[in-house]
Amino acid sequence: MFFVRSISLLAVLVSSPVAVLAASESEPMHFSSQEIELPSSDRTFPDGPGAEAINNNCLACHSAGMVLTQPKLTKAQWTETVNKMAKVYHAPISPEDSAAIIDYLTNLKPQP
Ligand code: HEC
Repeated sequence: MFFVRSISLLAVLVSSPVAVLAASESEPMHFSSQEIELPSSDRTFPDGPGAEAINNNCLACHSAGMVLTQPKLTKAQWTETVNKMAKVYHAPISPEDSAAIIDYLTNLKPQP
């Protein structure tokens, strides 16, 4: 009895993906344009020494929140992150701004 039941369960498991495939093949595909609204942000970095540099250089590609929600990092880690933005993502940051931004980020108080 148990044997028979497991055979029929197996049959269902094996046949159902085939049934799904067969159904999707017979139905024509419809494409339509969809509108989505991406979140936008006009949040800037909190005031302080270097705030102008970071506001000028770090808001073109992503929000301030992307940066402000990171955990507290060391100066070496922020240097690495800022260098990555410049080298990997081609953010055009001048060396003076880069130094000011790294100091700003290193001294950043935890954000609410
Ligand atoms: C040219 C575009 C661009 C600019 C300008 C830019 N970033 Fe980014 N940033 C990115 C991209 C792309 C990612 C990765 C996004 C992802 O992984 O979803 C990223 C991610 C980050 C992250 C998340 C952690 C990580 O390492 O991926 C931090 C922090 C960050 N950026 C900081 C900065 C700072 C600070 C500046 C200004 C010095 C800056 N970004 C300027 C493109 C940019």
